[in-house]
Amino acid sequence: MKRAILTGGSKGIGKAIVEKLIKEGWEVCTCSRREEDLLKLKEELRNPKGLYLKACDVGNKNSAKDFVSFCVEKLGNIDLLVNNASILGERLPIEEYPEEVWEEVIRINIKGVFYITKYALPYMAEGSMIVNMSSGAGKRPAPYWGAYAVSKFGVEGFSLLLAEELRGRNIKVYALNPGATRTKMRAKAYPQEDPSTLKPPEKVVEFLLKLISHRPPSGSYDYNNL
Ligand SMILES: NC(=O)c1ccc[n+]([C@@H]2O[C@H](COP(=O)([O-])OP(=O)(O)OC[C@H]3O[C@@H](n4cnc5c(N)ncnc54)[C@H](OP(=O)(O)O)[C@@H]3O)[C@@H](O)[C@H]2O)c1
Repeated sequence: MKRAILTGGSKGIGKAIVEKLIKEGWEVCTCSRREEDLLKLKEELRNPKGLYLKACDVGNKNSAKDFVSFCVEKLGNIDLLVNNASILGERLPIEEYPEEVWEEVIRINIKGVFYITKYALPYMAEGSMIVNMSSGAGKRPAPYWGAYAVSKFGVEGFSLLLAEELRGRNIKVYALNPGATRTKMRAKAYPQEDPSTLKPPEKVVEFLLKLISHRPPSGSYDYNNL
């Protein structure tokens, strides 16, 4: 396994995954909505061989299709797909939740996972793997997490459904809950929290690498629980 597509690689957990995979000799194609963040990533990693970047909004059908085409052009087949990009939205009771934020969270966090997976699947061979970043908020009721929680329940369901569909093709599908991790998203969700008390994204990457090398049965996994 050496060729990966990962969405949302400019920041947080996604960025740490890109960094590690490139170090381990993988070819990686990643995206985020902001082109300047991708250029910054390229600069920070000193323009490494095998890193391919393209601005994309995963929740936009045409943008997602163009991104996957770009990746396939660069990588050929895909051994690993990580659907990592997502947004938090607001933390509010349902009756106060703004409709436009709800729509945007569902568009990116759910439709985005569907589009990227649908377009990438024809290029995924036997033995490849899909990891969908989920959340604890997608596994048990988390009041006031609104559209984010609903989207992550969707990611869990999507992953289990896809795992069944792909069983015959020997493609593993995982929903991965990374748990509390020191990123911008976490800081937005918990502004009062001291980030130094949280694990860094590199810990999630370690666990992801374990998942990749162990290839446990498809299903829903929590950080450090294999
Ligand atoms: N951090 C935690 O404690 C935690 C806990 C549970 C689950 N998670 C999950 O883990 C994953 C990574 O989270 P994180 O904390 O690393 O988040 P983050 O720091 O906010 O990074 C999210 C990444 O996704 C990109 N992105 C957002 N919307 C996008 C879109 N429409 N199209 C393409 N890229 C998009 C962002 O770039 P742009 O904004 O420039 O597009 C950024 O690169 C997410 O799925 C999150 O739900 C995180």
